Amino acid sequence: MSFELPKLNYSYDALEPYIDARTMEIHHSKHHQGYTNNLNAAVEGTELEGNSIESILQNLDMNNKAVRNNGGGFYNHNLYWEVMSPNGGGKPNGELAKAIETSFDSFENFKELFSKAAATQFGSGWAWLCAQTDGSLTICSTPNQDNPLMPGVGCGGFPILGIDVWEHAYYLNYQNKRPDYISAFFNVINWDVVTKRFLERK
Ligand SMILES: [Fe+2]
Repeated sequence: MSFELPKLNYSYDALEPYIDARTMEIHHSKHHQGYTNNLNAAVEGTELEGNSIESILQNLDMNNKAVRNNGGGFYNHNLYWEVMSPNGGGKPNGELAKAIETSFDSFENFKELFSKAAATQFGSGWAWLCAQTDGSLTICSTPNQDNPLMPGVGCGGFPILGIDVWEHAYYLNYQNKRPDYISAFFNVINWDVVTKRFLERK
């Protein structure tokens, strides 16, 4: 069973005006499809074939560049589509809201720290909100397609929210204005999904 490009739960234009349809289409049908194809080619015929993507990343040989880049790219984009929604935005409720206040004092402070991590990641990469096994939350950024599931990467823990800050995620609409894209992203965050990931953290 090889990895498959996931279908989106919304149309390419559903996140406008925050993320434009052309960017979404290229990002999903070209970039994510590319990571998916290259991951399948990298694991085919190896001991990794048939393993879950989580297991592959958690036990990754960081010197295996093909699996590191494409396995990370496959997983990260799955998460990215999942944590966005045309009905998103606002603030989280319940357990996640409490955890954010415990770890960052307030939602506003969390937003500032997460935005800063995303804005200051040099070059291509991601910013993450991760749940640790004790229920605390941490923020970090990682280069390229690395993510905190990989051994020794970033803040560790289980990623419950991630923002892609590669230029391919925003350049058509925002050009070099990465902070504007980060600010817009908050209008499409699907907090129900982020909360579900928080409650199911492994
Ligand atoms: Fe991307």
